[in-house]
Amino acid sequence: MKFRVSHKDNRTAARTGILETDHGTVPTPVFMPVGTRASVKSVEASELKAEQVHIILANTYHLYLKPGNDIMQAAGGIHNFMQWDQPLLTDSGGYQVYSLSELRSISEEGVRFKSHLDGSKLFFTPENVVDTQRIIGSDIMMPLDECPPWPAEKSYVETSGAMTVRWAERARSHLEKTAPLYGHSQALFGITQGGTYADVREWTTRELVDLDFDGYSIGGMAVGEPAEEMYRMLELSHTLLPEHKPRYLMGVGTPENILNAIERGVDMFDCVIPTREARNGRVYTRNGYINLRSAKFARDFRPIDEGFPNHVCRTYSRAYIRHLLNVGEILGLKLCTMHNISFYMWLTRTAREHIEQDTFSEWKLEFLETFNAGQP
Ligand code: GUN
Repeated sequence: MKFRVSHKDNRTAARTGILETDHGTVPTPVFMPVGTRASVKSVEASELKAEQVHIILANTYHLYLKPGNDIMQAAGGIHNFMQWDQPLLTDSGGYQVYSLSELRSISEEGVRFKSHLDGSKLFFTPENVVDTQRIIGSDIMMPLDECPPWPAEKSYVETSGAMTVRWAERARSHLEKTAPLYGHSQALFGITQGGTYADVREWTTRELVDLDFDGYSIGGMAVGEPAEEMYRMLELSHTLLPEHKPRYLMGVGTPENILNAIERGVDMFDCVIPTREARNGRVYTRNGYINLRSAKFARDFRPIDEGFPNHVCRTYSRAYIRHLLNVGEILGLKLCTMHNISFYMWLTRTAREHIEQDTFSEWKLEFLETFNAGQP
């Protein structure tokens, strides 16, 4: 994997770049739709491409449980399995163990937990999580980490952050002893932790930068802290991370969070918001979001966002999609999902265009003013 910064905004830390993988190039800043179980819920790979999606995210934890490594390897890896021939990133599963599984216990060796599916006892280590990601065949892998809750005692965040750094080092040395299975190369990022304690965040970041990863993920954010605290950590990270490596803010976020993070030098994002909210009927417009389940759209024959350049807005009315949701037709969920993905792609694509033209800040303010004014 290669990364180069193509343009730096002249007033903020925003930058555009090109990430090159063996499955193609990704222009940054980029949003990665979430395809946890080798599917962006309800949307086919060809449809993602039509919405100009460049890279998607999948999850080691879920794929390890089902279909499991045997089937994944027999399928020839995730690209072949799901017929997605573009770049794909996998999260390590650490985060999901903490949020989904029962009875987890963390030790230096790794994390023991019970599957949320059938209660079976499992053990993740920094080494076997790399092995699983070799079998999945993602273009970019994440090391096993621990994401502390917010708020958490400083002593806990320090101890946990130090272990995350040791785990990253173990993941790295194990990676060097293993080889890709399917002929394409696989990058490994380091994940910074430290919650909102500036000195701990700085320490984990410096340690990981010393270990020289292919890129850096900023973890432990969007776990309930005020947005201002997250922005403060991003400003700090910007001063510490090498300029010529990609930066990925994990699990973020709203359109506003994303633009504010781009302004602070972040290149990559993933979040369940656009796809999860779509399944509840919430769709994004340049004038804020609307909930299409509402009866007020029953006779509204305008598109979701008048003049928005995508398939759903060119083709269907609010009234039709509201009807589909109302009677439980699965097409309703799919159209809302496709629209929201396309909206997030438009957001990051437009951000890139404005960074290139040195007009990012003005555009951001203008976009947010209109977007927030329309919010219900
Ligand atoms: N997704 C959102 N936050 C995190 C994090 O801190 N670690 C990992 N591995 N995944 C995440």
